[in-house]
Amino acid sequence: MNKTVFFIIGFVFIMICACNPDRIRPNGRLTIPDFNFPETIVFEQNLSAYNIFEGNAADLIPASDFHLVELSSILFTDYSHKQRLIKVPAGTKMTKQNDGTIDYPDGTIMTKTFFYQNDERDSSLGKRIIETRLEIKENGIWNIATYLWNQSQTEATLSLDGLDTQVNWVNAAGIPRSTLYHVPSQNECMTCHQSDSEISPIGPSLRNLNRLVERNGTNLNQLTHLQSIGILDDFDITQASRIVNYNDPTASLSDRGRAYMDMNCAHCHNPDGWDYATERQFDFRYETSLAQSGILFEEDKISNALLDGEMPFIGTTLLDEEGVSLVIEYLDSL
Ligand code: HEC
Ligand code: HEC
Repeated sequence: MNKTVFFIIGFVFIMICACNPDRIRPNGRLTIPDFNFPETIVFEQNLSAYNIFEGNAADLIPASDFHLVELSSILFTDYSHKQRLIKVPAGTKMTKQNDGTIDYPDGTIMTKTFFYQNDERDSSLGKRIIETRLEIKENGIWNIATYLWNQSQTEATLSLDGLDTQVNWVNAAGIPRSTLYHVPSQNECMTCHQSDSEISPIGPSLRNLNRLVERNGTNLNQLTHLQSIGILDDFDITQASRIVNYNDPTASLSDRGRAYMDMNCAHCHNPDGWDYATERQFDFRYETSLAQSGILFEEDKISNALLDGEMPFIGTTLLDEEGVSLVIEYLDSL
């Protein structure tokens, strides 16, 4: 199909979706298999056992040994907000490996808490915390599970089977939005969080942490900050690569398009991902050249999969209107 025509049809489609905030992704196309991964810990029943937050839990104030982590490129999950924290055991550090990845000591805990502001225009109107997802490394192996917050927002409990819950909020433009938010089952976690058949963290790569953050009123590089608080080993951070924030309009369209696909598609579509996805022969990782990525000559197929809500395969119920427009603009430019 002519790309310009395709783009216009796509745009109209997105506008229709924008006017229908209750649109739910079709599902049930393909059953997710029972992944059987080794577990090296037994997850606590209650989230409070991990002492992640201090004071009133619902304020999400990290305890002193949990450190805020901010990523340049992020996963879209139905417009939810996310707080990401990391804790390494006292006296240990994360270490940079020669291949540019980070090695985490046993006992590392990563958390990601999903919440909605009741009204994006006014945070004093409160928020609803839905779930806190955990990854815990023990004996060299990562364990993964999520905790569902109660209605009074005082505690969260282990949830392995997944569940749908209605969420409503008002977006920054003042438009009421809602969806049947899906809390993934443990099996669903594993579709995205596997690499070479092992559970693995996705977000905090050196390049995705290599960005400016504000800490104690000062702007500084996040890697420098993690080094200065003693949880990342010392190395020359000017050697670390960098991924762009796909919402940064000053970055190039191709960097933005690929950064979006890196964090929203590549955890399944890479040679070591879930085999149902790798059969498609795409490699959407940022560092993979365009020629090797499988994107060229498949632009229409990729755009279609996004627009009709077929992709991403799981993890969302709403279309990421801005993200999909960005990827289509990028594909259209090739
Ligand atoms: C649709 C794919 C997908 C599913 C399903 C998914 N995750 Fe993730 N997860 C990601 C991506 C991508 C990131 C990193 C990007 C970000 O945080 O925005 C991430 C980040 C995380 C993090 C922060 C540390 C890290 O790896 O970056 C935790 C903890 C986590 N996920 C746990 C879980 C748990 C528990 C489940 C199941 C209940 C789950 N995830 C389901 C894709 C997924
Ligand atoms: C949770 C894993 C997962 C994620 C995340 C994911 N995919 Fe897929 N993808 C799959 C699977 C599995 C298939 C095969 C689906 C099938 O056979 O029904 C597939 C198939 C595809 C296809 C082929 C569709 C066709 O008609 O042949 C395209 C194109 C695609 N994905 C693009 C994407 C893009 C772009 C993203 C990011 C926005 C993405 N995928 C995110 C798992 C995933």
